Amino acid sequence: MTRIVVVGELNMDLHLFDVERSAGQALLVAERYLAEPGGKGANVARAAARLGAEVSLVGRVGDDEFGRSCVAAVSDDGVDTGAVTVTSDGPTGFVAIELTRGKHRSLLFAPGANGYLSWTDIAPSLDALESGDIVIAQAEIPPAALSELATFTARTGTALFLDPAPPDRVTRQLIAAAEVITPNRAEAAALVGRMDDSPLTPALAARDLLEFGARRVLVKTGESGTLLAGAHREILEVPTLSVEPLDETGAGDVFLAALAVRRSEGAEWEQAVRFANAASALSVAATGLMLPERSDVDQAVRGLEEPTTRISLSSDNRGVIPPRTLP
Ligand code: RIB
Repeated sequence: MTRIVVVGELNMDLHLFDVERSAGQALLVAERYLAEPGGKGANVARAAARLGAEVSLVGRVGDDEFGRSCVAAVSDDGVDTGAVTVTSDGPTGFVAIELTRGKHRSLLFAPGANGYLSWTDIAPSLDALESGDIVIAQAEIPPAALSELATFTARTGTALFLDPAPPDRVTRQLIAAAEVITPNRAEAAALVGRMDDSPLTPALAARDLLEFGARRVLVKTGESGTLLAGAHREILEVPTLSVEPLDETGAGDVFLAALAVRRSEGAEWEQAVRFANAASALSVAATGLMLPERSDVDQAVRGLEEPTTRISLSSDNRGVIPPRTLP
């Protein structure tokens, strides 16, 4: 069985729903709130385990109640948490997520213990991996550790699935080392220095990223699905389910997990993206973090009948701003 190792953050998330400006004592007032374990690394690992994969998580939490809750949530979903280190260097990461009508308005992030994750935390979990196994990471883990990880995956032939968030942490080395990168449309535009103001931006950004050395780029465009760019520079638009999002928190994490799970099962890229689109669409149908079950995703993907289409870009479609130079 293909193994999946996730390297990433564990946070306590505080969701603040329907925040409005107030004339009263507090400047902003939330209609209601929910505190629950989150963090991109933890979310991806839990989602992949629920979808049927054998998963382990590498990360750091503080020696506190938030840390214990975060580890328990991950472990309850069947993830191996043996490589989650409890550190006295800082408290467990904390994120306040302000949501209005299902959309993020702001995120306030205190990384705490996550900021101390080092290559020595990660390396032991990779010892047993073989070519074809999958390592998933986000660009928000400390840059030195991520760079070592990319060097390792390039040397061993392990597939690195990289969530390039935040885009300003992403280097050319990372882009070239990853088997696949999965930006949303704003991140894709930021990665290549384009304005996200045209319907063509996601496709142009995908093409730029291939020119920067990416092997495969998936641009998540929300309701219109995902652009899949890779082999032969072809760009495909893979459809998704039409849903009214209640809360988009964790949708990208569920997408990445589902993609890795289907690839680990041998699915072709287009099929794996369809599955990931369906999983991610299901995940926005409830408030807070929603991790779909395998049977629900299998059923949803069967109902996704729209065909995949090819996007053509002429050589004149250069966009308004020339692509930025990556470090
Ligand atoms: O992707 C969603 C996650 O991003 C949240 O769980 C929060 O912790 C932030 O890191």
